[in-house]
Amino acid sequence: MPIKVSDSVTWVGKIDWELRSFHGEEYSTHRGTSYNSYLVRDRKTAIIDTVWTPFAGEYVKRLFDVVPPEQIDFVVALHAEPDHSGALPELMRHLPGKPVYCSANAVKSLRGHYHQDWNFQPMGTGDRLSLGDRELIFVEAPMLHWPDSMFCYLSGEEILFSNDAFGQHLAAEHPFNDRVDPCELQAECIKYYANILTPFSPLVKKKIEEFVSLKLPLKMICTSHGVIWRDNPLQIVEQYLAWAENYQEDQITLFYDTMWNATRIMAEAIADGLREAAPATTVKLFNCARSDKNDLITEIFRSKAVLAGSPTINQGILSAVAGILEEMRGLRFRNKRAAAFGSFGWSGEAVKMLQDRLAEGGFELVGEGLRLSWQPDRDGLESCREYGRQLAGRLA
Ligand code: FEO
Repeated sequence: MPIKVSDSVTWVGKIDWELRSFHGEEYSTHRGTSYNSYLVRDRKTAIIDTVWTPFAGEYVKRLFDVVPPEQIDFVVALHAEPDHSGALPELMRHLPGKPVYCSANAVKSLRGHYHQDWNFQPMGTGDRLSLGDRELIFVEAPMLHWPDSMFCYLSGEEILFSNDAFGQHLAAEHPFNDRVDPCELQAECIKYYANILTPFSPLVKKKIEEFVSLKLPLKMICTSHGVIWRDNPLQIVEQYLAWAENYQEDQITLFYDTMWNATRIMAEAIADGLREAAPATTVKLFNCARSDKNDLITEIFRSKAVLAGSPTINQGILSAVAGILEEMRGLRFRNKRAAAFGSFGWSGEAVKMLQDRLAEGGFELVGEGLRLSWQPDRDGLESCREYGRQLAGRLA
């Protein structure tokens, strides 16, 4: 069902209530998502972005119930990732020869995805496209989220179409920021930033500063996932600036995997020591083999320090811990400290390996790691608690 956004803008996207994983199995979407597509009607009529491929047929059918294809003058593709461009082949079948406005990089990626020779019209920062009384102003936004990503701004309505930026995976019947649960919204926004945008934080900051310097009035931000920011849209911009600036809270996160519970027992005793010495600090523990990896990454994003734990297996570390460390390396966290711990039976390489992986991921190591052989006894447990106390002091 179309949703009125403003006098000239109508939401014509798809709410995906069922989606539980995105990017294949890379990103958990506990609350579904939406693929936001917008119809803009002035003297000319434009479509901004489409929906994911599996919904192409129903999208085009519903769209043409709102606007017949002959009345659509052009399409704007702000990003070539298939969650937004997936319905383009079906749509363009009904709009032969009509222009597709996109960035120069998107011409390459759209051709790469669909092998179609549509009437591509490359746009760059500052380019304008008249719709009649209103115009679209384009701002390239490379790496937010792909090299082809772009924003566009609708004059007259003062709406920024930001594509992935400022979005979140949240299915909502009324997709406006003032109509959803604020706690759910905040949780999905920070998860989205932590898991997708962290590596691009310097670009996020630069792009926001560039947009602010244009001094364009802003009434609404229409994202390509989740809610439309119409109630104080600058709140999410300010939030992004904070997240982009080496974000951390007073939180320490311990993540580990364990075979016979020795490393878990170590984690809990270290956490006791941390809490004892730093009672105001939030301390959280996760068995990463049993935790949602994207939720764990979000907790790491919020943390000032992390502790990674693994027993030694085959002269290495457990695979669930290795997987999270690989995610952390790719996300290029900044301004975070780390330590490592683990139980071992005979060779005991895991802690050194954890430290190496943490350092490779840009984490500053704090002190030596903690290794204990076999199950911790009374003295072993006290050494874990003392390790936590000492660490809390160094992290204060
Ligand atoms: Fe929502 Fe980068 O696609």
